[in-house]
Amino acid sequence: MLNQNVYDELLAKFEKQYGRKPETVSYAPGRIEVLGNHTDYNEGFVFSAAIQYGTFFAVAPRTDREVHLVAGDLMKEVSYTIDKVEKRSEDTWQNYVNGTFACLFPGKTAELGHGFDAMFLGNVPLGAGLSSSAALEMATAKALCKLYGLEIDTVTMAKAGQKAEHEYAGCPCGLLDQLSSLAGKEGQLVKSDFRSNTYENVPLGDGVVFMMVTSPAKHALVDGAYATRRKACEDAAAHFAKVLRHPVTHLRDVSMAEWVLYKDGLDETQARRAVHPIGEDERVLAGAKLLEKGDVKSFGAFMFDSHESSRVWFENSSPELDAIVDFAKEIPEVLGARLSGGGFGGSCVLLVKPEAAEAIEKTINSKYEAKFGERCKISVIKASEGAHVVA
Ligand code: GLA
Repeated sequence: MLNQNVYDELLAKFEKQYGRKPETVSYAPGRIEVLGNHTDYNEGFVFSAAIQYGTFFAVAPRTDREVHLVAGDLMKEVSYTIDKVEKRSEDTWQNYVNGTFACLFPGKTAELGHGFDAMFLGNVPLGAGLSSSAALEMATAKALCKLYGLEIDTVTMAKAGQKAEHEYAGCPCGLLDQLSSLAGKEGQLVKSDFRSNTYENVPLGDGVVFMMVTSPAKHALVDGAYATRRKACEDAAAHFAKVLRHPVTHLRDVSMAEWVLYKDGLDETQARRAVHPIGEDERVLAGAKLLEKGDVKSFGAFMFDSHESSRVWFENSSPELDAIVDFAKEIPEVLGARLSGGGFGGSCVLLVKPEAAEAIEKTINSKYEAKFGERCKISVIKASEGAHVVA
């Protein structure tokens, strides 16, 4: 099993804490975003993959109405009753679990009849843009559905996690992170359409792997920059809805040619923001055709373009991420590189020739250290299985 050591540690800690074994243990992975940045809430397209790091969630029913929840890394316990599942201002890590619990059973947690003892533990690097929070939400969802006998489909489950982010964690995110965590397949990408909320697993192709390079600089999506980007996209879509003669509800409905013709009715910032998801959608759709033909080299070139669009238009990159992509561009065995996820710090995803992975890590880290005086966390990413109940 993936991350067996984390699972063993969680089981040992759970038994020590609660004096019994869990009834159910679930697992959900983090994700990399490969192509299609800030397109999900614009109802566009994304290539992503679940990664080999994730979070386990262990749970056992209680006979009373209490919930006891422990963060396995901190060994800190919080508790409440199923009659009052709410957003808390202390120990804010609990909001990902409390929010998912509340959103899975909207207005109905009190009807569940009994509470639970739970603990979670994972190894998705925190604050790295790899969706550690979605991993926790989806692990929570899988375990609680099993515990309470609730059968729900993938999209409804993903939406419960997304609602928890909106209402409990304060991030107005799209559905990408939760859906990728659920829909991952070993060795495959997830290609999603966020209008229909459908996805398919597609092979990446032979002779390439992903690497992730996490810069040590701070990354946070809840401080407002993500929300202002989203608002600018929505305002731009409202403008295009007025001037175009076909229906527009989201930027998904606007082509690059239409942006060029009609952007002048937008203020400069809105126009800059809007062109990014519009271009990303085009790159994902063209990229899908390239992958079908086995042309990973041209697919990689789109990743470089995507980063450039983030840097110049969407302004969701950072000097550290720009430097990583610049270093990567100089290495012939790197086919593509871009920031992955919300941006404003976090991680870059690289498409590389596997035999060069070690040399790539050394080169990037020595250049990064020379420039910033620190080193990045760099690892090869294995596209991995999505969330599931493990025991
Ligand atoms: C974050 C959000 C996602 C998505 C990406 C950017 O990861 O949680 O919903 O918007 O940023 O593509």
